[in-house]
Amino acid sequence: MTLILGIESSCDETSAAVVRDGRDVLSNIVSSQFDLHARYGGVVPEIASRAHVERIDAVIEAALESANTRYEEIDAIAVSDGPGLVGSLLVGVTAAKTLALTLDRPLLAVDHLAAHAASASLAPDFATNGGWPAVALVVSGGHTSLYLVRSALDQTLLGQTVDDAAGEAFDKVAAILELGFPGGPAVERLARGGNPKAHRFPRTWINEPHDNFSFSGLKTAVMYHVHGVGKKYGDIAKRSMSEQADVAASFQAALVDVLVGKTIAAAARAATPHIVVGGGVAANGALRQQLHDACNAHALKLTLTPGAYCTDNAAMLAALAYHLLLAGQTAELSLEPRSGLVRPVR
Ligand code: KG4
Ligand code: ZN
Repeated sequence: MTLILGIESSCDETSAAVVRDGRDVLSNIVSSQFDLHARYGGVVPEIASRAHVERIDAVIEAALESANTRYEEIDAIAVSDGPGLVGSLLVGVTAAKTLALTLDRPLLAVDHLAAHAASASLAPDFATNGGWPAVALVVSGGHTSLYLVRSALDQTLLGQTVDDAAGEAFDKVAAILELGFPGGPAVERLARGGNPKAHRFPRTWINEPHDNFSFSGLKTAVMYHVHGVGKKYGDIAKRSMSEQADVAASFQAALVDVLVGKTIAAAARAATPHIVVGGGVAANGALRQQLHDACNAHALKLTLTPGAYCTDNAAMLAALAYHLLLAGQTAELSLEPRSGLVRPVR
């Protein structure tokens, strides 16, 4: 039995988890900073780093306590070293290095995106759906990417967004509709009462034979629709609630059509019968339903990452880190956080 303590602090969630053998999540504590950033309409890096410093010790203690585990029982420490906000990552990396040194345990550096791509392995139906290989759609506030995952550690990036991420588009449309931050859940709630066919917003590259995405045109189309062409700010109050709901539903329909269409096409091109989906936007009910229907229609297996492991969390890191440990891919205590995609996804 191998117990891995995972630590995640790449953006605005402080999280720690204890995972057994890369599969059984004994605890997964997530302390979100939504309340701290909401009034600024987005994540403020300096505030995020400070909050991580204040919370990380208590979050790690809570993860051990809730897993009924003592520090000495932990076999390895895993941490996300990037990509993310450097100041935020530094807090988790420093905590992990300190624990690895004082407990004399291996340190494992996990790529945050590779962890999202492999997070579906924590779903109960992952193995019965065929496990790896799979085409993975990672949809979050910072990333929208398709990977071919041959095994947990063998991932190839097939394509990604060239501008906005899907979650970012949700957040920006929420800002246009004055729904607050984070916007995804609010847009989804409003969209439930709207007509997805009310407006035909662009579905960029939906039929192009490549795996890249572009969502900035969709966001701009929604903005011009709401405020008038060429105008960035207008008066949303002039629109009735049902008109706003139609905009939300039509935007969501366009975005989901693109995500689903391109993911199905990627699986066909890669000749892979299994699709897995992770990242914060994977919590979206319309996306989950449409993926389900499309996979049925194309005789593909679908594994959706359970909600708790869609948004940023340490369990997905500890799960992937188990494979790094088995492969002997440990990190040095000189590990430094990295902001961008400077290292290819492992
Ligand atoms: O993966 P995540 O927690 O953080 C990043 O690594 O970015 O994803 C957060 C993103 C935000 O943009 C949020 O608006 C979006 O996921 N999101 C949703 C939903 N829940 C969260 N988007 C659409 N529908 C949702 N239900
Ligand atoms: Zn993430």
